[in-house]
Amino acid sequence: MGIKYAVVFVFIVALVIIEKESNIISRMSDKMMQRQTPPQTTQSSPDYSKTTTNNLTALDMLLSKVNASEESRTNQTEERREEELQNGGRKNILLMATTRSGSSFMGEVFNQHGKNMFYLFEPLWHVQYTSIKTYNSSFLPAIYRDVLQGLFLCDFSLLEKFLSPPPQDHVATWLFRRYSSLSLCEEQVCTPFVKEVFERFRCPNQQCGPLNLTLASQLCLSKQYQAIKTVRVHQLEMLRPLVEDPRLNVKIIQLVRDPRAILASRMVVFSTKYQTLKSLVQDGQVPENDEEWKALQGNCDNMKRSAELGLSQPRWLRKSYMLMRYEDVTRNPVERVEEMYRFTGIPFSPEAREWILRNTQTTQNADDFFSTQRNSSEQAEKWRYSIPFTLAQAVQRLCGPTMKLFGYKFVNDAKMLVNKSVSLCEDKTFH
Ligand SMILES: *[C@@H]1O[C@H](CO)[C@@H](O)[C@H](O)[C@H]1NC(C)=O
Ligand SMILES: *[C@@H]1O[C@H](CO)[C@@H](O)[C@H](O)[C@H]1NC(C)=O
Ligand SMILES: *[C@@H]1O[C@H](CO)[C@@H](O)[C@H](O)[C@H]1NC(C)=O
Ligand SMILES: *[C@@H]1O[C@H](CO)[C@@H](O)[C@H](O)[C@H]1NC(C)=O
Ligand SMILES: *[C@@H]1O[C@H](CO)[C@@H](O)[C@H](O)[C@H]1NC(C)=O
Ligand SMILES: *[C@@H]1O[C@H](CO)[C@@H](O)[C@H](O)[C@H]1NC(C)=O
Ligand SMILES: *[C@@H]1O[C@H](CO)[C@@H](O)[C@H](O)[C@H]1NC(C)=O
Repeated sequence: MGIKYAVVFVFIVALVIIEKESNIISRMSDKMMQRQTPPQTTQSSPDYSKTTTNNLTALDMLLSKVNASEESRTNQTEERREEELQNGGRKNILLMATTRSGSSFMGEVFNQHGKNMFYLFEPLWHVQYTSIKTYNSSFLPAIYRDVLQGLFLCDFSLLEKFLSPPPQDHVATWLFRRYSSLSLCEEQVCTPFVKEVFERFRCPNQQCGPLNLTLASQLCLSKQYQAIKTVRVHQLEMLRPLVEDPRLNVKIIQLVRDPRAILASRMVVFSTKYQTLKSLVQDGQVPENDEEWKALQGNCDNMKRSAELGLSQPRWLRKSYMLMRYEDVTRNPVERVEEMYRFTGIPFSPEAREWILRNTQTTQNADDFFSTQRNSSEQAEKWRYSIPFTLAQAVQRLCGPTMKLFGYKFVNDAKMLVNKSVSLCEDKTFH
């Protein structure tokens, strides 16, 4: 009896998902058909763009995925689902962050888990950089989602379409920051080192040659857990089909940080982009038309919108969403990370704990901004000395509601900004 209901329920869920997928797909293909000048199809161009010249390939590919998932869903019995959703099956984690929000550190915390973890650092980088030339950016969120879905199933085929140079026989000669993933540097996927790719595939303990994605996929399937870190997914709602896909068992951790600190950090790392912004602020003007300023506003709006959705605990997202403030992690790294692990249902390994201890209590490499090695509590407050009060104030006006939601205290004057006995991050729990 129970099983019958489960089967019917699962079938309905599958239909709803298929309905949604096909809506998105048809909207996407409509838009693509309307394009006046089809892009030059090069070897490296992904199937999404090829739809103008080879219009049904991408649709077929996506539909076959939808069909495959329908089958596997209807075949699953209730027990099987329960098993997968609880402890037996694979667990997937998506770390959804913005740049300069400590996402590398948080990714590393999962990367360092040990032999049972398959970790990917910004795989969507390729999608963004390949697509930027060929598509209208409004397609990106849907493409990101589909690529992530494939990756969580250890299927690299969709990502492959975006790799450049394009893989030959599923062998990639270059992958963005491959060495940031311990699993992609494991013996099993480390083919003999080739001189030309020396700089690109430097792994921590050895140099690896091209990446055989078939082997990477097999390695991925052999692991119990997978974590993907990305700063490219801006809308939590886009991830709904992934959360609802019972094969994925995915949990999302949204990482946020004080927008004033994000701006200050970006101004140091990408200083040339911020010259106009700096001079405008020095002249006491509000840099309303500055690109970076608009980007910060978009960033604040996205963080807030996603967090509001997540914290409202809609039915589809229940138990699959967690909000984490960077500042809380830097204050108590081990405790906070332990909390994240508890949320994911993955045991907090001694390796991960040791890595955190080693990397949050050192002042070594404090000037290497892409490094995750720093005295975390000290680093987290550093921005207060690098940003002028007028700019902090302007951010407060720009991102006020976002800051209030996350509990970031406004500063009233320049003294308060640099007074270390005033915490700018209020104690707050998000449940
Ligand atoms: C789709 O592609 C096929 C074959 O590549 C072509 O015959 C057809 O005209 C295309 N349709 C559109 C709407 O571009
Ligand atoms: C997927 O299912 C639809 C409808 O059931 C069917 O028309 C289509 O041919 C199927 N696609 C594949 C690739 O099996
Ligand atoms: C689901 O069941 C059908 C019929 O029993 C079978 O043909 C199909 O291969 C199964 N699919 C999967 C993914 O196990
Ligand atoms: C992208 O698509 C949207 C909606 O179809 C449209 O409003 C916008 O102008 C397009 N942008 C570009 C750069 O083509
Ligand atoms: C990649 O690995 C697979 C699985 O071991 C193997 O069959 C294939 O030949 C390899 N590809 C290349 C180009 O070496
Ligand atoms: C890290 O910085 C904090 C705050 O400045 C300081 O109290 C602590 O001693 C530092 N820890 C290490 C290991 O340097
Ligand atoms: C810093 O803030 C504390 C608490 O509000 C205050 O007592 C102290 O006077 C402030 N220090 C300076 C230098 O303003």
